[in-house]
Amino acid sequence: MTLTAQPAEPTLDDLARDILRRNDRGGYTVPTGGLYPFQWNWDSAFVALGFAEFDRNRAWQEIESLVSAQWADGMIPHIVFHQHDAGYFPGPEVWNTGRTPPTSGITQPPVLASVVRQLWEQEGADPSHPRMRALYAACLKSHRWFHTYRDPLGNGLVMVTHNWETGRDNSSEWDHALDRIDTSAVGSYQRRDTGHVDAAMRPTQREYDRYVAILQFGRSSGWDHRVIADQGPFRMIDVGMSMMLLRANRDLLALAEAIGDEAAAVELRDRIALSEQGMDWLWNEEVGAFCSRDVITGESSGLVTNASFLAFYAGVGTPAQRQRLLDALERMGRSAQYLLPSLEAGSRDYDHRRYWRGPIWLVVSYMVARGLAEQGHADWAERIRADSARLIIRSGFYESFSPETGEGSGGGDFSWTAAMWLAWCGQ
Ligand code: DGY
Repeated sequence: MTLTAQPAEPTLDDLARDILRRNDRGGYTVPTGGLYPFQWNWDSAFVALGFAEFDRNRAWQEIESLVSAQWADGMIPHIVFHQHDAGYFPGPEVWNTGRTPPTSGITQPPVLASVVRQLWEQEGADPSHPRMRALYAACLKSHRWFHTYRDPLGNGLVMVTHNWETGRDNSSEWDHALDRIDTSAVGSYQRRDTGHVDAAMRPTQREYDRYVAILQFGRSSGWDHRVIADQGPFRMIDVGMSMMLLRANRDLLALAEAIGDEAAAVELRDRIALSEQGMDWLWNEEVGAFCSRDVITGESSGLVTNASFLAFYAGVGTPAQRQRLLDALERMGRSAQYLLPSLEAGSRDYDHRRYWRGPIWLVVSYMVARGLAEQGHADWAERIRADSARLIIRSGFYESFSPETGEGSGGGDFSWTAAMWLAWCGQ
């Protein structure tokens, strides 16, 4: 009798690499086919960390292709529409930014500098690294854009002018500000997202009308970032982006020092000091967390979200504040089967399946875990890493996951989830 060799079962590493290759559209990666058929800003940054585990050139290229669409004023857009795809709304004709390649008119969380530093250090931290140097210049320009257009209070925190900029699209943090948006002139449009995934996992129609109304304000201004910053209908200081920009400024400073760009180093040190002091404006003593806050009304969201814990990643908070955050983590760890939910259970409109109102997003978990490890909380960092790995082992490479059941939600075969497996939780 002859035995025929059975092909080996693919490992999760194989599957993760395969997702990145399949979502590669030639120099850039889509978050997932169908639901998100273009290049997204912070998705690409995390995807680069995944590629870095098996294809160094492709990792750098992912960021370079995104940055090639940077605007002259420094903004790196949240979507680059490299090629036509009718399956997404709002597409390039809705944004109408007049760019080549077409892009959206808003940005997304500034994590690029942090990723560039990681890629560069993995390759030996050579100050003359040409790809690092080119991306350093782009990141510096983008950080200056934030300081020029998105720091209305002059305290180093980040204002967003569309909830899509935060990446945490439908977080309950934005509800009160969205309630005030006038949707009377929105007109009719056809959503595409709910044709790809279960509507129960997506923002509601009422919310979408508001998202479109804010977009229309930007478009009617001719995408004038000064007008949008001064008069836009949605203006919030986002705790997540404020923490991520502070961290990215620290990482950019390390690059500036390596390169010997002393003028930029001085500027970045000032920005870092400003943000460190400014962060207290977001602290909500009642709930014991850093929370997003409305620029127009001054109201704090009063919500503990996964972004609140980015304080560790940003390296801010007094010992007492950090203890309150750890208390909140402890609470969430008791009520959920898996860490780290995007919203604390029991908060208003918590829903373990609906996008950013409860589900777990591994890229945020990754940054929080990194921060916790750096700040001396290796046990919590390991709990979050192990829970993240369990989610993928149980359910696959979903966009997000229920903290209660571990089931996947949103799109499947998701690039940044695959990247997080390769670069972090699968290790
Ligand atoms: C979407 O279309 O849901 C995206 O998150 C917007 O960036």
